[in-house]
Amino acid sequence: MTAQILDGKALSERIVDELRQQVDALVASGKRAPALAVILVGDDPASAIYVRNKKRACERADVRSVSHDLPASTSQAELLALIDKLNDDPEVDGILVQMPLPPQIEPETVIERIHPDKDVDGFHPYNIGRLAVRMPTLRSCTPMGVMTLLKSVHSDMRGMNALVVGASNHVGRPMGLELLMAGCTVTTANSQTRNLPVLALQADIVVVAVGRPNLVKGEWIKEGATVADVGINRLPDGRICGDVEYAVAAERAAWITPVPGGVGPMTVASLLQNTLQAYEIHQKA
Ligand code: GUN
Repeated sequence: MTAQILDGKALSERIVDELRQQVDALVASGKRAPALAVILVGDDPASAIYVRNKKRACERADVRSVSHDLPASTSQAELLALIDKLNDDPEVDGILVQMPLPPQIEPETVIERIHPDKDVDGFHPYNIGRLAVRMPTLRSCTPMGVMTLLKSVHSDMRGMNALVVGASNHVGRPMGLELLMAGCTVTTANSQTRNLPVLALQADIVVVAVGRPNLVKGEWIKEGATVADVGINRLPDGRICGDVEYAVAAERAAWITPVPGGVGPMTVASLLQNTLQAYEIHQKA
């Protein structure tokens, strides 16, 4: 079997176009446009690229983005003070603090300081907890984007075996909760997992979010499976690759995400969907 491409770039563009129509209708009716505050601390080059992509997507959706570029020397207290100000600002719907943060700042403290109603990354323990009890509000963007992609080819995932490789707070754990909510039988593998090839060969859906090039071998993929590769790794020769050995996996899978152009753009589309949802929450409050 040769896999069909799960084209995250194309789907994300359709989602952003639809969001723009919704935003334009709001503005035409006299309401203000949704606004996203984007905080970047320091000068990590990869983070700068991610933030630029997010701000460009805001422009395409006619969402207002407000940049806060802070030096790498910013103290935790200074960052928390800015978050407090944005939490209180009625013109700001979403707050995004790009990760990773410099070593003097604890990411958990920062994430918990963002008001859950403005947590458009869906990282706050309150929002993860709501997903865990099947009452999702603002959902973690990467797992949400993967679910949108999976649902585009599987209208009903009930009873499917899903394997999530990676158990991070931001991707692996909420990914498992999303798949569970869709009715899958979910296995989450972590760095201690002993029989990963065996688990992978049983999986109808494989989502990999580890950050190690070609960790999942193509021959571990079950014939006809669907593969979503969250990894974005830069090889020594400068090429970008995912966590899945793409060429061999694509000969076995039915559907597979490319890297780049698969999950990455869907994360950005989900961020904008969350920003519009946060806006609606604030309009009702
Ligand atoms: N760093 C890498 N991915 C993300 C993301 O989705 N959100 C934030 N805030 N930081 C990140």
